Amino acid sequence: MSFLIRPSYWFVILLLFNSCESIPFLQDSSTEKSIFSVTIPQIEGAREKRDRYEFIGKEIIISSDHPLASQAGMEVWKQGGNVVDVFTASSFAISVLRPHSTGLLGGGFAVVYLPNKGKWAYDFRERSPKKGIASFYLNEDGTVISGKTLKGAYSAAVPGNVQGILQIQKQHGKLPLSVVLAPALRYARSGFSVYGDLAGAVAKTWTSMNPPMQNVFGIDKRAIREGELLIQEELAKTLERIIQNDKLEFLEGETIQKISEYYTAYENFITIEDFKNYQVKVTEPLTSSVWGHTIFTMPPPSSGVHLVTMMNLYSEMQKRNTFPKGEVGELIRIIEAMRVAYRDRAELGGDPLYTNIPVTKLLSQSYAKEETNEIEKKVVSGSWPTISEENKKPESYNTTHISILDKDGNAVSTTQSVNGIFGAGQMVPGTGLVLNNTMDDFAVAPGVPNLYGLVGSKANAIEPGKTPLSSMSPVILTDNSGKTKMVIGAPGGSQIPTSIFNTLYRYLIQKEGLYDSVSYPRIHHQFSPDRIFLDPEIKASYPQSDLPFYQVQYIRHRAKVFAVAREGDSLIGVSDPKGEGVPLGF
Ligand code: DON
Repeated sequence: MSFLIRPSYWFVILLLFNSCESIPFLQDSSTEKSIFSVTIPQIEGAREKRDRYEFIGKEIIISSDHPLASQAGMEVWKQGGNVVDVFTASSFAISVLRPHSTGLLGGGFAVVYLPNKGKWAYDFRERSPKKGIASFYLNEDGTVISGKTLKGAYSAAVPGNVQGILQIQKQHGKLPLSVVLAPALRYARSGFSVYGDLAGAVAKTWTSMNPPMQNVFGIDKRAIREGELLIQEELAKTLERIIQNDKLEFLEGETIQKISEYYTAYENFITIEDFKNYQVKVTEPLTSSVWGHTIFTMPPPSSGVHLVTMMNLYSEMQKRNTFPKGEVGELIRIIEAMRVAYRDRAELGGDPLYTNIPVTKLLSQSYAKEETNEIEKKVVSGSWPTISEENKKPESYNTTHISILDKDGNAVSTTQSVNGIFGAGQMVPGTGLVLNNTMDDFAVAPGVPNLYGLVGSKANAIEPGKTPLSSMSPVILTDNSGKTKMVIGAPGGSQIPTSIFNTLYRYLIQKEGLYDSVSYPRIHHQFSPDRIFLDPEIKASYPQSDLPFYQVQYIRHRAKVFAVAREGDSLIGVSDPKGEGVPLGF
């Protein structure tokens, strides 16, 4: 059968992975290239890592958060695949390779741009099940039941990753599922070496995993360690069934039967009916002109619209001469643009089928002008009101992004997730699949912060069938001549829109190289808490003493950017040097 791979081939791939550090483009380099300007700060260690995290191709380029996921994409490209085949192969592969970040029981978004065919925004994010109502998560007195949206069976929403990716593949891919899923199947069955980030995630969540999950992510009843081989045999079998049964596997196959059996112990919170009702949403991408480019991104419930507002506001503020000169003035412009965008997100953000989001207004120049007038009043008067108290929440590293671009401008930008580290911490027995905990992306009660410290309003309240608000904002940019210029996105919870903003700002406004732009220390503000977060490397440029009207915290920005760009005849790929991934191409 087509999914049976010759054992010798598994060996070659395993060898490839195990010897990644000896492949020149994956190697760390201690020699500093002359191209680096000492005036461009980078996050700690980034300068030395450039050879590993940057790749230049001519035909195709991919940037993802695991070398083998990028490799999976290139493998199907070499077999005659197009960018969508690359997307499908790398998406399934990454769900095997980063099970703490994403997975087949997660959800996501993808913006697809095929210049000769069209452009689409695919929303295959999780939806609240029919039983998912707000009161389910509240005590009788209206207080929130601690942890119910965060861990366990009730924290999961109806997943969409498999349905979404298969639909995109069916509409635009060229190769059969047996070919595009072959790398993922191989990684699950033959295993791969556990890397530091995955080992850390397993160790951190070990005690809260259910027994089937401990069986997969443990050896001798302890958490699997860095360097050990992770084999996911049940997941391999699930992948084989998807290859055979396509989307029916999630409607009437063994996988959905097993999910439904698991939920009999949990009041049938998610049912087969929920899977049957699940619809992938396909729309036009949200399109806007900004910073000399056209941006295609996801409409709500993604945060793409707030990213564009942020960019527009920055440009409007640049036209005013009332802001302080120099770096402090520039920081104020960036921070105040972020503050407004995240305020809008908190107040208005939610599923557009359930709440009215004034997208046209938020994208308009008149809105940017009005909001800039308000910011200007604060700057001129020196009166800086602060807003609500800080709500500190644990941070995590998860979710994933893949950027793909070929020489003809065909592009895919996709962000996928199980939300928190290992989602719900529950594996559905017999499937190798980990449930998401995306119910936490709803505002469980107005003003109560989620895992990422983000607050929301009634617009993002839990309701059956509803899609939770998301920070995931996959982006594709075209230049003035209409050619695809750039594909970018990031994992990182609340820091997703600002990490994209920071990188676009360095690349398009400050005209720095793509690698320098990705690894430049970042600036973040998310409205609540009312605080600036700065990467420690720029502390000297922005000491608290120069910013008496702000509260500043110097802390590592956790979002990881995956970007590819066309520069002349070259395709440049960069994976964030904070991560484990690499860009690859031809
Ligand atoms: O959709 C969202 O906004 C979140 N589920 C994303 C979570 C995430 O990026 C976690 N990464 N650190």
